[in-house]
Amino acid sequence: MRSYLSHLECTSCGKTFSAEEPHRTCEACGKVLYARYDLAHLRREVSRSAIAARRPDMWRYFEVMPVRHEENVVSLGEGMTPLIHARNLGAQLGCPRLYIKDESGNPTGSFKARGMSAAVSRARELGLRKLTVPSAGNAAGAMAAYCAAGGLEAHVFMPRDAPRANQQECLDAGAHLTLVDGLIGDAGRLSRERAAREGLFDVSTLQEPYRAEGKKSMGYELAEQLGWRTPDAIVYPTGGGTGIVGIWKAYQEMLALGWIDEVTTKMVAVQADGCAPIVRAFQRGADHAEPWQNARTVAAGIRVPSAIGDYLMLQALRDSGGAALTVTDAELLADVKAMASAEGVYPCPEGAATLAGLRKLLKAGTLDPEGVIVLMNTGTAYKYLDVLA
Ligand SMILES: Cc1ncc(COP(=O)(O)O)c(C=O)c1O
Repeated sequence: MRSYLSHLECTSCGKTFSAEEPHRTCEACGKVLYARYDLAHLRREVSRSAIAARRPDMWRYFEVMPVRHEENVVSLGEGMTPLIHARNLGAQLGCPRLYIKDESGNPTGSFKARGMSAAVSRARELGLRKLTVPSAGNAAGAMAAYCAAGGLEAHVFMPRDAPRANQQECLDAGAHLTLVDGLIGDAGRLSRERAAREGLFDVSTLQEPYRAEGKKSMGYELAEQLGWRTPDAIVYPTGGGTGIVGIWKAYQEMLALGWIDEVTTKMVAVQADGCAPIVRAFQRGADHAEPWQNARTVAAGIRVPSAIGDYLMLQALRDSGGAALTVTDAELLADVKAMASAEGVYPCPEGAATLAGLRKLLKAGTLDPEGVIVLMNTGTAYKYLDVLA
């Protein structure tokens, strides 16, 4: 297998960069860089049926992943998570084709494993040895684990009120943990300062090109699991946005490859009403989101007041004919229990927010209840027992 990675491209000004050296954001305009692949060649040389017999993790899509040599992949078995037919919730809600894409079984208990497996692997391949990341908790835990496995040094910065489990797993994996009095943005500032001072490479959300490549594997997997078709709606708990933009990027690639014929998915962003910059921008018809003041929600992963990829998320929501809406903490906490008791899937608060969102979407008539609807449960409740208690 070989990667068809060709170059990096700015998602805003279109400037291109070599993929064979480390880059973070666009050096011309500061916006998000995407990894690009020679899809025309790949289309002629590899068919989607070749994937079927491969390893049951996200590296089965090796040709569209950003690592040149397989021996550089740092993998703990991330991806190929179950797509569970939620029959009981579906019966309650009148949605016969309701599914939960359950990311809780990933290494370190969340979908962040995908992004970190890709970013740490590529960083190692490019010769980087010391990484830093600001995180609400799950990204830090994932980075600590992949750096431990890959022999890299990990520095993580998270708000002091991040779930205890995330703090402990970082320490136990040997990461350098700094707790920050503030939110994810404050953690980001400290991470960048440390990076500049000590020569660390900062892998903040969408501020380097490869975490999104790991996240996009969720889009490939969903299509493969549905017989190379896309669902009618994906309801996603939205923070920094890598999930939404990653899935949307996967769709564009699969169209170019002829692996899917059409995209039928309405992308839906769910945020907490105490921190909803993307929902507000979507409702205002804006291309960018204003930072949210006094961000508050128990769902730490979606407590992101300002995101560099705001324009990419808003574009995906609009291009897909999708929607954006808020739920309250009380609603999402009630739906942790509702999902656990109806389906046996114990979701993180962020994942439960998608169920709370779905209830509102159905009430408003925004989604066709007969369609294939996928709720993204991005992580496990076990990381949040202190918060849930
Ligand atoms: C469990 C969980 N869900 C959702 C999110 C938001 O992710 P994204 O960056 O894809 O919007 C996070 C981010 O920290 C998270 O930890």
